[in-house]
Amino acid sequence: MYLIRFVLAALVFAFSPLVFSADQIVIKFSHVVAPSTPKGKAALKFKELAESRTKGQVKVEVYPNSQFYKDREELEALQLGAVQMLAPSLSKFGTLGIRDFEVFDLPYIFPNKESLYRVMDGDIGKKLLTKLETKDIIGLAYWDNGFKQMSANKPLRTVEDFKGLKLRIQSSKVLDAQMKALGANPQVMAFSEVYTGLQQGVVDGTENPVSNLYTQKMHEVQKHLTLSDHGYLGYAVIVNKKFWEGLPKDMRAALEQAMHETTEYERVIAQQENDEALAKVKTAGTTDVYVLQLKDRLLWHKALLPVHKEFESVIGKELIYDVYNVAAQVEKEKAAKK
Ligand code: LMR
Repeated sequence: MYLIRFVLAALVFAFSPLVFSADQIVIKFSHVVAPSTPKGKAALKFKELAESRTKGQVKVEVYPNSQFYKDREELEALQLGAVQMLAPSLSKFGTLGIRDFEVFDLPYIFPNKESLYRVMDGDIGKKLLTKLETKDIIGLAYWDNGFKQMSANKPLRTVEDFKGLKLRIQSSKVLDAQMKALGANPQVMAFSEVYTGLQQGVVDGTENPVSNLYTQKMHEVQKHLTLSDHGYLGYAVIVNKKFWEGLPKDMRAALEQAMHETTEYERVIAQQENDEALAKVKTAGTTDVYVLQLKDRLLWHKALLPVHKEFESVIGKELIYDVYNVAAQVEKEKAAKK
């Protein structure tokens, strides 16, 4: 069924440079999270802005919650032209063979959001997006979600607490190494399967920003949440290159403007959504929320830092050091302002 859907979509795409519905161009935007997350809300904002800026010439159909495609499938669907737009987590680009994006997965690489935004919006972020073109993909923007937190059915405070736990990860080799460095057993699982995986004990715990945890009801099956901010989860909004370059120039400009405004909106709501989700988890009362103490944070840090070194040859030492330098520069500017 899945294969037939792909083949049909690919045939339609091969014979028509644009995806028309009557006179309209349709952008199918598929994603894996709930509509009420930062990414879910931004997808709907883009729909609103894109449709109004193009005076209805473009219709954006948003398909949330892995309704059509799961993690890896959605990237294949985009390349085949079965969907036109996605916003996968940066951790999922390694499966395309572009390992540089895994720099975003390195534990504790971004000390704060300022450094992260500067990396995304500056030369480093731009250069990474252009790498996607070799895979017939155009990167339009980076969207934020937030720092990740650890959850399980036992408290996760010291590094020793991780020993032997089966923890769900996204398909990233850095995340695999991260969990192993903590003594856990990482298990790659599609996002849509995490709730059931936790409920049935296939995995013991996971990591995600709280907005994802809450909207997938993971808090109902996770007794403990540690606010650790040990890593980052964000997105690249991407389009099928052939589709995008086949659009009339003025229409593309209008969509780029809509994307720009959506990205500004997304930056504002990402933290708010995570803060609200945390408040809701606390209210639900099913999960103990623990703030990682400084002394343990330093020990997590010590256990996880070797992962940076381990991945220098894969991600590129220069790229990793470029990110360190941006973070150092941000710190310097902050100190100068004090
Ligand atoms: C995950 O798989 O945990 C995340 O990438 C989901 C998402 O898109 O935020």
